[in-house]
Amino acid sequence: MTVETERETGTTRARVRKLARARVEDFARVEAFASRGETTPLERAPRLSETLDCGAEIWIKRDDVYGTLTGGNKTRKLEFLMAEALEEGATMVVTQGATQSNHARQTAAACAKLGLKCHILLEDRTGRRDENYTRNGNVLLDDLFGATREYRPGDRGLNMNEEMEIVAKAYRARGERVYTIVGGGSCPTGALGYVRAAYEILDQAREMDLDIDHLVHATGSAGTQAGLAVGLHSVDADVNLLGFGVRAPRDVQESNVHDLALRTCAKLGCTPIDRSKIVADSNYVGEGYGIPSTSTVDAIRLFAETEGVLLDPVYSGKAAAGLIDYCLTGTFKPGEKIVFLHTGGATSLHGYLDAFA
Ligand SMILES: Cc1ncc(COP(=O)(O)O)c(C=O)c1O
Repeated sequence: MTVETERETGTTRARVRKLARARVEDFARVEAFASRGETTPLERAPRLSETLDCGAEIWIKRDDVYGTLTGGNKTRKLEFLMAEALEEGATMVVTQGATQSNHARQTAAACAKLGLKCHILLEDRTGRRDENYTRNGNVLLDDLFGATREYRPGDRGLNMNEEMEIVAKAYRARGERVYTIVGGGSCPTGALGYVRAAYEILDQAREMDLDIDHLVHATGSAGTQAGLAVGLHSVDADVNLLGFGVRAPRDVQESNVHDLALRTCAKLGCTPIDRSKIVADSNYVGEGYGIPSTSTVDAIRLFAETEGVLLDPVYSGKAAAGLIDYCLTGTFKPGEKIVFLHTGGATSLHGYLDAFA
């Protein structure tokens, strides 16, 4: 390649990167949940790094404090989803999740803020009947935000998005204009929230002179990882993205994320992302979704005691257990910079008193 063509290719790449970043801002977004330009802190975790003593430097991206809807990753997705709901003239939002769903709680708060009705289908994935789990934590907040709810058993293999559409149809027949949000807000519109977050992280890292080796987080309904993967891919960022699964086995989780990432690429108008860019490790799921393992509880205690940061027993606690194990087993190497994306969820701690007895 001549110097001239090399320079031209470089300029073209820079232009493509700029275009991708501009395109995400073209989609309607509710700004009332976080003032325009708000960025969540990207904090060094010195006491945690020192305690793990593996030579890697750990940072925490604090999306647990994103926005005004009690915090968490779903708020970034809801900025785009609720804008679509408003554009469609919705009077009501119907969504679904597990009993202690953080997504449902943030959706209920978003609806309260925007003056829309909210109805939630909660799936009983753990079989727990104690009052703490069924009424405290996120469920208490769903009620306080004025959402109505109904339940579905978790042991019948129901397709919860289909169940939700049946319920939405009944509300439509009663005159409501219903906007439905799939579980976790994990559709291309919702994933745009994490495309934006990827750009935010890259900008912050550049300003702080932080060369990120690994960006790690919990992955469930796939929207967070799909959005991050597309964001990083669209600007050619050299960061290893790793999702720690909380429910599905590795191959299922990776293909769910890849499928959504491809649909998000199409929405954003960027080139399709390669399957090899999607990596999920489901070794820290333990007994199952919503059941914290000893390593989950230990991770929650460690983050709380060393950094004053509260994780949750379903998502971020399991991802943190993975991060800790990677440090202790030498998978993360001395000198590497690891960013742990804290996706929130601490509200559900109040539904898990027994786990910490
Ligand atoms: C606290 C928390 N972290 C991580 C996730 C996983 O994000 P996603 O569903 O986008 O994969 C969720 C999803 O509900 C969550 O509530």
